[in-house]
Amino acid sequence: MFYEPKDGHGLPHNPFKSLIVPRPIGWISTVSADGIANLAPFSFFNGVSDTPPAVMFAANGRINQGRLKDTLTNVEATGEFVVNLATEALSDEMNATSASVDPEVDEFALAGLTATPSRIVKPPRVAQSPAQLECRYLQTVDLASSDPDIRNAVVLGEVIGIHIADEALTAEGRVDTALMRPLARLGYMEYTVVEKVFSLDRPA
Ligand SMILES: Cc1cc2nc3c(=O)[nH]c(=O)nc-3n(C[C@H](O)[C@H](O)[C@H](O)COP(=O)(O)O)c2cc1C
Repeated sequence: MFYEPKDGHGLPHNPFKSLIVPRPIGWISTVSADGIANLAPFSFFNGVSDTPPAVMFAANGRINQGRLKDTLTNVEATGEFVVNLATEALSDEMNATSASVDPEVDEFALAGLTATPSRIVKPPRVAQSPAQLECRYLQTVDLASSDPDIRNAVVLGEVIGIHIADEALTAEGRVDTALMRPLARLGYMEYTVVEKVFSLDRPA
């Protein structure tokens, strides 16, 4: 089949996100200007550079069910965020933090997670997560859209502090990815877990 998104896909469900898989989940913690912690998952998330390290996440619309996305509001107000690695063991908690709740609600408490202080930035980290990236906000790219009511935005940040749980490092000092069992998003309501890892040497 072939379709142009502007004309619709003709399938029971939109296949687009099933074709960009697996997507890592940036589980983003922020604080509001009033100091209220916020936590939400973003699967439009990735690393964008290595040196200095930088990441992006994208808000599917600045507005979610009539309310501004708290994550975006907080990052733009405070200039800081933390990316927590979402794992299979934390999948229910991760999902709980995607609930659309009022800005006064602290999703750490909502999901029964422990907030632990970051070293450099104000937003706390998810203590149960095996790795976290402390980030300084760089910029937002507001995407031009054919629909003026849709305001998608890509947020970029530089990673200025990296936490790795000792248990997630091998004796040789490598991150044990399969041990962490990172969670990743597929299409529809589907997820996958990174459990099989293999290496390929680059051509000379
Ligand atoms: C696994 C998962 C991935 C998600 N990815 C995104 C995403 O990439 N962009 C987005 O705008 N919303 C995404 N969402 C929905 C947000 O998490 C949800 O709108 C949340 O309420 C936003 O919280 P906030 O208002 O505290 O920022 C995702 C939800 C789940 C469960």
